[in-house]
Amino acid sequence: MIGKRGPVTSRGSSDPQEYAVSRTDLALDLLEHPATRTASAPVPAAAPVPTAAPVPAAASGGVPAAEPRGAFGGALPATTADGLLVPTSAGSRDYANLDHAASTPALTSVAAAVEATLRSYASVHRGNGFASRVTSAWYEQAREQVARFVGARSEQDVVIFTRTTTDSWNLLARALPADTTVVVFASEHHSTLLPWTRRAGGTTVTLPVPRSIEGGLALLHEALAAVTTEHALVVVTGASNVTGEVWPITRITRIAHHYGARVALDAAQLAPHRRVDIAATGVDYVALSGHKLYAPYGAGVLAGRVDWLDAAEPYLVGGGATARVTGEQVVWATGPARHEGGSPNVVGAVALAAACAALTEHHDDLVRYEHLLAERLRRGLEALPGVRVHSLFGPGSDRVGVVAFTVDGVESGLVSTALSVEHGIGVRDGKFCAHPLVDALLADQASAGSPAPAPGAGLQPTVGACSDDGLLGTGTPATAVRASVGLATRPEHVERLVAAVAELAAYGPGLAYTRGPNGWEPAADPREVSLPRPW
Ligand SMILES: Cc1ncc(COP(=O)(O)O)c(C=O)c1O
Repeated sequence: MIGKRGPVTSRGSSDPQEYAVSRTDLALDLLEHPATRTASAPVPAAAPVPTAAPVPAAASGGVPAAEPRGAFGGALPATTADGLLVPTSAGSRDYANLDHAASTPALTSVAAAVEATLRSYASVHRGNGFASRVTSAWYEQAREQVARFVGARSEQDVVIFTRTTTDSWNLLARALPADTTVVVFASEHHSTLLPWTRRAGGTTVTLPVPRSIEGGLALLHEALAAVTTEHALVVVTGASNVTGEVWPITRITRIAHHYGARVALDAAQLAPHRRVDIAATGVDYVALSGHKLYAPYGAGVLAGRVDWLDAAEPYLVGGGATARVTGEQVVWATGPARHEGGSPNVVGAVALAAACAALTEHHDDLVRYEHLLAERLRRGLEALPGVRVHSLFGPGSDRVGVVAFTVDGVESGLVSTALSVEHGIGVRDGKFCAHPLVDALLADQASAGSPAPAPGAGLQPTVGACSDDGLLGTGTPATAVRASVGLATRPEHVERLVAAVAELAAYGPGLAYTRGPNGWEPAADPREVSLPRPW
């Protein structure tokens, strides 16, 4: 059991240090909390069954699709989780959602589009009934909407609905010509790092975690110059799921194309925050996940050049992927159908399309809003004694609203648990399915040496360097905490996080915690937690 603070650190203390900490720049004018929020989003009204041509019903279904954000000025899409109340040790609080990089709530317009789809839900491409025709039309219209969202080139690109980014890369890995060298940085999310290594043929070159953009590009030049196979593919992320740093996609594509290699862009973290444009950047493939894009209904996307995909064996063999089947012969479909075997997830596809439409419509305001939140978050954390914000490319690098940090002497699992239990804040801790990257960032910090943690903060035993939690030798946590902003994040949430981390770094957690098989838990949980089933 560790971390119970003395009374000097309790809320309302007159301790001058605490006061100074909790007041850190609280009044950033533009970031005031918006007007009072409703407790939960209303359930969208069911849309009428279409009676005319299969044109999608208005996505809003009577639900406010966009909402003003107080002093920010712009109107941004509302989410189904806005105003969610969660139990904390101090009573119930508005949930501070700083975990968008893991999964996002749905937009209310997305939930309404799904509701409308369910009203006439029927089979896709398998029936002549009116509902089936409508559903089939919506599925293909969803594909067109997503194609516009990713800037697909109509002549050479195909948009395939998958389950997730992981699914998309596994599909592409199986579709690569046998003599393809894949070049990938070790800093990638495991879903983007690993699928290439399971191919029957071909070579995979894993480049070390780069510590500067120029260094990374030099490594890439070198690796591509050494490729001896006929085909090559560079796989790279648009924005890191750990540090939020944005990779120079157009430059990478220019280099890759110079060597005759193709580029596959992991847009899982980029697409929720920035425009993704295949045609403008010249990349050859893009993958993304609906659950990170305000459309958590089980669909993802692989978009890009159709040639290798049409030449490959179907990803899933079965109905839908076939053009003709006789006793002697199977002729596989071409285009998206070839890799979408089985009944497609039309609800997921419509959800994704609705999210793409909303994010396109509100793009500029979204970028502005998130920039304000992200800058406040990063600068606020960077200013705290005993808190390290981690970076691949160093100060001044372009970032989306994802920040990885550690608190000297405090295990990251304990930080995230205390933030949740005491403050109603949702963040993630761990290595974020990017173990080589997080290990490299933390090893750098450990070798640079951390100053002694604040009294009361560093009370935990040191455990092995590769532990999933614990502390490295110098008091550097073995894992990190990740805070990520999005449309369900309010400016007050960012302020709450910065103030809470300041308290933690200075005094440790406010309650006593123990580490059990499921991670850190309050020794005596003061919350009234009830988890009724939603069904
Ligand atoms: C950058 C990046 N790529 C790929 C993935 C894998 O996404 P999914 O779990 O939706 O397949 C993630 C998920 O966190 C990610 O952040």
